[in-house]
Order: sequence, then structure tokens, then C-alpha cells
Amino acid sequence: MTNPSLLILPGDGIGQEVMAEVRKVIDWIGAKRGATFDVSEDLVGGAAYDKHGVPLADETMAKAQEVDAVLLGAVGGPAYDDLDFSVKPERGLLRLRKEMDLFANLRPAQCFDALADFSSLKKDLVSGLDIMIVRELTSGVYFGEPRGISEVDGQRVGVNTQRYTEAEIERGARAAFELAMKRDKKLCSMEKANVMESGILWRDVVTEVSKDYPEVELSHMYADNGAMQLVRAPKQFDVIYTDNLFGDILSDCAAMLTGSLGMLPSASLGAPMENGRPKAMYEPVHGSAPDIMGQGKANPCACILSFAMALRYSFDMGEEATRLETAVEKVLADGVRTGDLLNEEGVKPVSTSEMGDAVIAALDASL
Ligand code: NAD
Ligand code: IPM
Ligand code: MN
Repeated sequence: MTNPSLLILPGDGIGQEVMAEVRKVIDWIGAKRGATFDVSEDLVGGAAYDKHGVPLADETMAKAQEVDAVLLGAVGGPAYDDLDFSVKPERGLLRLRKEMDLFANLRPAQCFDALADFSSLKKDLVSGLDIMIVRELTSGVYFGEPRGISEVDGQRVGVNTQRYTEAEIERGARAAFELAMKRDKKLCSMEKANVMESGILWRDVVTEVSKDYPEVELSHMYADNGAMQLVRAPKQFDVIYTDNLFGDILSDCAAMLTGSLGMLPSASLGAPMENGRPKAMYEPVHGSAPDIMGQGKANPCACILSFAMALRYSFDMGEEATRLETAVEKVLADGVRTGDLLNEEGVKPVSTSEMGDAVIAALDASL
């Protein structure tokens, strides 16, 4: 049998720093658990632009289509801010999502007990929090046509189009309902059906799909209210299903409930491949964090936990995924903190690499 294949795209800024820590975990699993991956590494984002003049080379795209899973760090940064829109680092990431047709973006927001004090909300509002945001990832205003900047009546006009087909709403909804069935059987769909036709269609289609999942309690919420409810009483939610743009914003918001953006992993899943595994890319929710890059300050947990999601969703290694998640939890419970998780004066943060080492030590201790 061949080893499962993994394409690593560290990308830019802290993407490269946090991925180095995931490499340690991959090596550990190979050495201690006998699960060896065929790992290849390539460029995406600004790093790819510097070498190829494009944020994702065609060969890299082709490789991503062939492997069992892609693991991505982060893309972007101020050095690339003035590039033409078509070659900006973020276009590389969007191309991967679109061409791999990764329509269901799972963004879990879980508050580890050790971090409950650190959330910007009161402890009792977030302790035990476990939400799953399912963000539609390949359509909506990110990709709708027409789009562009043009000159109309002597002034520039910027246009983007929110567009959803029934099929696009439906397939994401099915993914969300399936997840709800394995969790607390509650799904809240968020749109703005009060002002957007695409929101009316969204609500209609989700309601239709819900007939196939009678055990799941479905509710609908306007996304602006959803944002407010997420910070008012986040534990009311189990699974949230929402569109590409609302999902982007709501998941950053949910990140802070868990203590830091540096804690939030994600899985982007598509249709099953020939081998039965879903097409998949795993990435932390955070970006390249130019303000802290190159200083060893980045929290690698979001990227490490994204690899745990890969173990669970792509490689059928749920037990190893739980082992890794428990190791991260243990490290946090022991008081190990990168700078983003510190609010007490006088406590010394650990570096990115020390945090990775602490996770490895906790993995060792788990055997
Ligand atoms: P960001 O997520 O990079 O950073 C926001 C804030 O959170 C910063 O203060 C940063 O220091 C902090 N932060 C983020 N991740 C952290 C971590 N792991 N550990 C500690 N602190 C962390 O968002 P931004 O500053 O708005 O964007 C910077 C660049 O990243 C932009 O070019 C943006 O387009 C890109 N971006 C990429 C992705 C991605 O690749 N998936 C996601 C978001 C933003
Ligand atoms: C994310 C990011 C991306 C998005 C950008 C970098 C294209 O913010 O993954 O959350 O907007 O989807
Ligand atoms: Mn985002």
C-alpha cells in the first residue's frame, strides 16, 4: 500500500514559521505511530510570486489536485500590497479553493478550559464552548460576476456580485446537516434574507434540505444579529451554516471567543475522490501576521490543530487526531503560552518553536 500523500504549502510570513512546527508533528507520527506520509512542499502566495511571477504555479495547482490533502500556512503581506490584483498572494489561495472545488469550509471554535479566562468575553460565557461554523467557500461575492473596477460617468465604480445557485447552497447545507447529526443536532443558518434575494433563496433551500434531517433543529438568523449573538451568548450555537463572506467575518469573530486567532484551525472539503476521501485542504484561520513575522512569536496551535483535522477527515486517523488535540490542550493546561495568549504582566511567553516542542513532549507523554 502506498503512503498517504500530503502537499505542504507554508506560504508567507508566519505561515512558514507555524508550518515548521507541524513538520515536527508529522515526523513524530511517522517515528512513534508508524504513520508515514509522502510529504512534498511547494510555494504559494507571495513566495510563489517571488519565484514564478504568479501566486500559484500551474504545476503546484496540478500537484494539489493529485494529493490526498493539502496543508497551507498563510498567504499575503505588505510587501505584496501594491501588486496587480490578479497576482496578489490571496489569489493563489482562492484559486486552490475554487479549482479543487472545496465548497465546505469547517471552522470549529472550541474554547479550551485553560484559555477560558483569556477570552475577551466573561469566562462563563465561553467555557465549554464548541461551535462549528460551516462557511460556503467557492461561490458568493468572492467569485460572482460581474466584478471589477470601471469608469462610469467620469468616476470609478467598484463592482462585486453576490450570486448563489440552489445547488451551491444545497451541497454546503448537506455538509452542515451531516455534521450537526454527529454533534448536538442544532443548525442555525445565517444570511440577510431581509435585504438580499440570495438570502431569500438561501433560506428557502436550507429549509428544503432540512426535510431530509428531521432530527436536526433548524433555525434562521440574520447574519448581523448572528454576529451580535455570537458575542452575547455564543453557547446557544452548535453548527452555523453561512455564506462565503459572512462566514469569513463570523469565523474571525468566533476566533476571539476561544482566546486567540492563533488557535483556530479549519478544513476545506470538496466532493469525494476516487479513493473515497474528500478533496481537502487544511489551513489555520489566521493570516500571515506581518506585525509579528520573523520574531518567533506566532502561535502554531491553529496550524497544528488543522493537521489534526487532516488526520480526522482525510486519513481516517480519528484517534491520532484526538491524541494531538489532547496534547495541545495539555500544553495549554500546563500554562505554556505564546504571546497572543498572555494577558498577565510579567509572564514570559514561549516562542513558536518552544510551543511546538511542548506539543511533541505532550505527545510523547501520551504513549
Ligand atoms: P492576520 O490573521 O494575519 O492577523 C491579525 C492579527 O492576529 C495580528 O495582530 C496578528 O499578529 C494576530 N495573529 C494572527 N495569527 C496569529 C498567530 N498564529 N499567533 C499569534 N498572533 C496571531 O490578519 P491581517 O493582519 O488582517 O492580514 C495579514 C495578511 O494575511 C493579509 O495579506 C491578509 O490578506 C492575509 N490573510 C491570509 C489568510 C490565509 O492565508 N488564510 C487569512 C487571513 C488573512
Ligand atoms: C480566510 C482569509 C481569506 C478569505 C483571504 C486571505 C483570501 O481571510 O481564509 O479567512 O477571505 O477567505
Ligand atoms: Mn478571513
